Amino acid sequence: MRYTVYPVHTLLCEPPRGAAVVIDTLRMTTVAATALESGCSSVRTAATVEEATRLARQTGALRGGERSAVKIPGFDLSNSPLEYTPERLKGRPLILTTSNGTQAVASAEGAPRLYLGCLRNAGALADRLRGEEEVTFVLAGTAGRFSLEDALTAGALLGRLPSGEMDDMAVAALALYRQNRSRLHELLAPCAHYRRLMALGYGEDLRFCLQEDCSRAVPLRLPGEEAFRAARA
Ligand code: MLT
Repeated sequence: MRYTVYPVHTLLCEPPRGAAVVIDTLRMTTVAATALESGCSSVRTAATVEEATRLARQTGALRGGERSAVKIPGFDLSNSPLEYTPERLKGRPLILTTSNGTQAVASAEGAPRLYLGCLRNAGALADRLRGEEEVTFVLAGTAGRFSLEDALTAGALLGRLPSGEMDDMAVAALALYRQNRSRLHELLAPCAHYRRLMALGYGEDLRFCLQEDCSRAVPLRLPGEEAFRAARA
């Protein structure tokens, strides 16, 4: 297997081959996995608030997401995964727009199999990826800059996958995860987005997003499809 990690999605300049995994641990890809775990029928991503609103009007979908990490006025849901409960999501389609995560999905457009990864679905996603010849991890980062939590999640996935040929960023992500898996909060506490979410009162979100292997929901989008759906086991 060959593994490549793009530390920031903006560095990707051609469609990934094989499987691509977009990672926005805090919090968009955690939100998408949680929504599907709660019985949401599909998750579609939109680049702008206007696009999300237009799509929601056409389809009757719920609108979720954030700008500057807080709820968008008029939207049904913020970008807190704790809001994505079965009571609110079961059987409903969802449109998400966020500052970085949904933009990273757009960058990975054209991948033959496009997955959304987070720590909570790491084991389930690794099970899906076994057997792929090539896996590209696309990290969302924050405003075009590297985010440590996304590299940790790439490392967590690599640690659950068979060994293979890795680029240097994959080697770094795996080592980072192996050395810090028992102290994720301590490691991330000085990091920009962790601090911002903490300052906004999202401490519970941080605890939720940094839990590993709690969800079997793996968002998958195939070519020609508009939305992510839960991959079948
Ligand atoms: C993003 O896409 O930038 C994030 O998911 C931001 C957030 O944590 O709300």
